[in-house]
Amino acid sequence: MDSLQETTVMDETLDPPDWANMQALSHRIVDDAIGYLRDVRDRPVWREMPAEVWAFFDAPMPREPAPIADVYGDVARNVMAYPMGNIHPRFWSWYMGSSNFTGALGDFLAAIQGSNLGGGNHAAGLMDSQVVNWCKEMVGFPAPAGGTLVSGGSMANIIGLTVARNAKAGVDVRERGVGAIPKPLRFYASDQVHSCHRKAMEALGLGNRALRRISTDANLRIDVDALRTAIKEDRAAGFKPACVIGTVGTVNTGAIDDLQALATLAAEEDLWFHIDGCIGALIAIAPQNRSLVAGIEQAHSIALDPHKWLHAPFEAGCALVRDASAHRNTFAVTPEYLESMPRGLASGQWLHDYGLQTSRGFRALKIWMALKEHGVEKFGRLIDQNIAQAGYLAELIQAEPALELTAATTINIVCFRHRLDGASEERLKAFNTEIMLRLQEEGIAALSDTTVRGRHCLRVAITNHRTRREDLDLLVRETLRVGKEIAVAAPG
Ligand SMILES: Cc1ncc(COP(=O)(O)O)c(C=O)c1O
Repeated sequence: MDSLQETTVMDETLDPPDWANMQALSHRIVDDAIGYLRDVRDRPVWREMPAEVWAFFDAPMPREPAPIADVYGDVARNVMAYPMGNIHPRFWSWYMGSSNFTGALGDFLAAIQGSNLGGGNHAAGLMDSQVVNWCKEMVGFPAPAGGTLVSGGSMANIIGLTVARNAKAGVDVRERGVGAIPKPLRFYASDQVHSCHRKAMEALGLGNRALRRISTDANLRIDVDALRTAIKEDRAAGFKPACVIGTVGTVNTGAIDDLQALATLAAEEDLWFHIDGCIGALIAIAPQNRSLVAGIEQAHSIALDPHKWLHAPFEAGCALVRDASAHRNTFAVTPEYLESMPRGLASGQWLHDYGLQTSRGFRALKIWMALKEHGVEKFGRLIDQNIAQAGYLAELIQAEPALELTAATTINIVCFRHRLDGASEERLKAFNTEIMLRLQEEGIAALSDTTVRGRHCLRVAITNHRTRREDLDLLVRETLRVGKEIAVAAPG
């Protein structure tokens, strides 16, 4: 007893030594964050990082402490000043949302509460399920359907495809593995399918070749007759057709497969019908365009992406599975250290039973807060707004002789290129790529590019609640200016 009293043990903690100091700095960070978003339009969309920033990230691992104000200074100088740019009104590269301040507050509060959404009886778990329920409602899925929040669209697709594989395998794949599947499974999707499905097939042990890419029609939608023929051929060759993946908004051009036809075919052929709705599933909440996704509610599983058209800060995806028990049976495991209790903390649902992660972040809060603040209807109108803006840009391009559309604009993706009389495809690609790079490097606009049926093009994907029509006017003007500069500097 005596010796215990004599020794004073100072237990360490990560809590701030001076809360008032931390409070003052936190207020400054919030003020800076508000200014950062408020003034985003005045900054370049993107800029190259100077050598000192590259060098900064080569610094050795910190072994000793540093004042938190200095740490924040480092972040402000080296990180906040060189963003990807997707919160900027003129960012239209690849496909991503533009985040929102309320969502950022949600992420902050989620981290402050620190809950692990693997499971348990606590409010965050209830909110997670509520957000999944709201997602079901948005796409017209029945209330008893299963679902889970995941990191993004790729994971949401893996969840749906894993349930599909297990449901159609004809053996207990969880116990016996893919080697025991009696007939090799075949999955089908259009030749425009997103690359994450290839990764999913590989990760599921089925292999890339198990995903048969079906040709597309003039509007880049899956050719349903070709699909029917492929299924027939595969059955005759001893394969088991298992699943058709319909895409609602292809990544290249935004094409939407004929969902009604796919649902009918899947029912006739006893296939699982999965929808990759990462881009377009949420069009279901957009009053002017929701008819484009009619039939989505007939899927067995849907992948959708709140970090795209709900503008949730990364990361947030959602997998929905109509048959909740098929969903749970694919992933649920109850080890002795995660048993449920009739009361107390472990009496809540185990959300890790619906996916691959055990520990899960509190992704729901950022989505929930923004949905509560704005209401779902506003998000629907913003989707309509982006689709109308894409239509507007397509008209500008069509009205401009030096530019041409290279694919139909169905939703919010515009594919176009600058013409160059008599130029080969190779030269056109080099020319348009240079335009794209200069627009990025001059901080004017961020576009990306793609190649559809052998034709290279620039690609504008407007998933952005900050974009205005004047930004699109500027894009066209600047594309023409840069195009002229390049053509003058290197004619022919
Ligand atoms: C059609 C489609 N599916 C899946 C994905 C993958 O989504 P994520 O990037 O959220 O993993 C994307 C990404 O843009 C996509 O466009």
